[in-house]
Amino acid sequence: MEHIHNELERRREEARLGGGQNRIDAQHAKGKLTARERIELLLDEGSFEEYDMFVTHRCVDFGMGDTKLAGDGVVTGWGTINGRMTYVYSQDFTVFGGSLSETHAKKICKIMDMAMRNGAPVIGINDSGGARIQEGVASLGGYADVFQMNTLASGVVPQISMIMGPCAGGAVYSPAMTDFIFMVKDTSYMFVTGPDVVKTVTNEIVTAEELGGAKTHTSKSSVADGAFENDVEALSALRRFFDFLPLNNKEKPPHRPFFDSVDREDKSLDTLIPDNPNKPYDIKELIIKIADEGDFYEIQEDFAKNIVTGFIRLEGSTVGVVANQPLHLAGVLDINSSRKAARFVRFCDCFNIPILTLVDVPGFLPGTSQEYGGVIKHGAKLLFAYGEATVPKVTLITRKAYGGAYDVMASKHLRGDVNYAWPTAEIAVMGAKGAVEILYRSELDDKDKIAQRTKDYEDRFANPFVAAEKGFIDDVITPSKTRKRLSRAFASLRNKDLQNPWKKHDNIPL
Ligand code: HXC
Repeated sequence: MEHIHNELERRREEARLGGGQNRIDAQHAKGKLTARERIELLLDEGSFEEYDMFVTHRCVDFGMGDTKLAGDGVVTGWGTINGRMTYVYSQDFTVFGGSLSETHAKKICKIMDMAMRNGAPVIGINDSGGARIQEGVASLGGYADVFQMNTLASGVVPQISMIMGPCAGGAVYSPAMTDFIFMVKDTSYMFVTGPDVVKTVTNEIVTAEELGGAKTHTSKSSVADGAFENDVEALSALRRFFDFLPLNNKEKPPHRPFFDSVDREDKSLDTLIPDNPNKPYDIKELIIKIADEGDFYEIQEDFAKNIVTGFIRLEGSTVGVVANQPLHLAGVLDINSSRKAARFVRFCDCFNIPILTLVDVPGFLPGTSQEYGGVIKHGAKLLFAYGEATVPKVTLITRKAYGGAYDVMASKHLRGDVNYAWPTAEIAVMGAKGAVEILYRSELDDKDKIAQRTKDYEDRFANPFVAAEKGFIDDVITPSKTRKRLSRAFASLRNKDLQNPWKKHDNIPL
């Protein structure tokens, strides 16, 4: 009997070694951890249950029949993060460069299928040379099988992609269909065609890092949602991020013990808004001051900085935050900020995460580049996302809420549940100067008259009371008491029940 047990252990040991010690050393020399080391860091100690450890590929072409390695380049299974379940796959670059074969794909699809049935997220750790070249179309088919599973799982369980090595060609499309992509600086890249092909086709000379590194994708393309210095930092940040997410679309957001008084007042918020309405301030200061323990997990920090998106907790429960950022482009809405926020709002709505919207927006950005780029359609994405969202929506206007942007930013008219304003709020079709120039064009040469007209307009609209008189604003609140008022608003919405009319699916302006 003992020899049978020994044989099992021998096989396990062999599988754990992946492509062998030399390739493990090469992986370490590149500053990367191995597939198994990554899983160990990500999951709670001893919680990993591995599946398909002994699976091998079935290819016999190009001498592949003689080189079968247990696991076939991907480690799959499930475990827990702070006690909550997740499925995980981690590509093993030491085995055929982590390339994806038919059986490698089957292993990934198997855990995705289980994740959907059992209601737990899927975390994919990508480190792969792409389609297994020796397998040809079988591996392309494998990719398509994974893409199909990504599509079916979307909106059922959260899907998170960690890019921790190469990710090129059609392989990029699996992460692209997941909810969040995080990258590691200097050791990971994503592109559809690499630098050599780019040079041949367009004559551009570009490095892999410039073309598809973490900086490019977090600041220029917005393909990735965050970037980290190394594997260890990325995986520990992922553990923190995971704690904010529900496990599936039927669960409420996770609740955890909190040690921050709901009644905590912050006097500094009473002076957050500068006297000069054209002066910026940092909206993140407000987010951090209202969040439980000041804990804010920002998404897409380096892209479209004129809007801030991320997660906080109020009374221990996750809340998604969307906030105009007056520090960048005066917090204006444009193509990029609309796209960024719309995707975030839709994620929250998929997974029952209530949304807090902080509004200080002077309107949509004018200009030919915006119009030619389709700001109408992209702005409509955000409008649509808010309009269709049925999760609790609480909105606070801190200062400007001008024009169409007032409507867009989770206004009462888009089924905002509780809409508050600070006394400094200004809710109008546009700023006083612009309005007076249009309404009193014939008087523009008379400076005194125009000054009086401007003052009249400000007196009428540069406050929240016109909107409050109409019931579009539920209350005008004292800034220092914001945490308490928002927490109570979300508490009152815990049992909210709102359903959209039946449809196959909507047709958001993509
Ligand atoms: C089979 C592969 C492989 C692949 C790498 N290897 N990629 N084996 N299929 N796609 C193997 C190598 O032969 C090598 O084996 C080992 O993995 C490590 O690779 P190296 O080249 O030594 O590593 P490195 O120098 O770090 O370079 C990594 C790399 C490079 C940049 C990823 O390997 C590379 O360019 N690979 C090919 C990438 C590619 O064109 N893939 C197809 C993309 S198209 P040994 O035995 O020497 O250790 C695609 C289509 C998907 O993916 C379509 C979906 C719709």
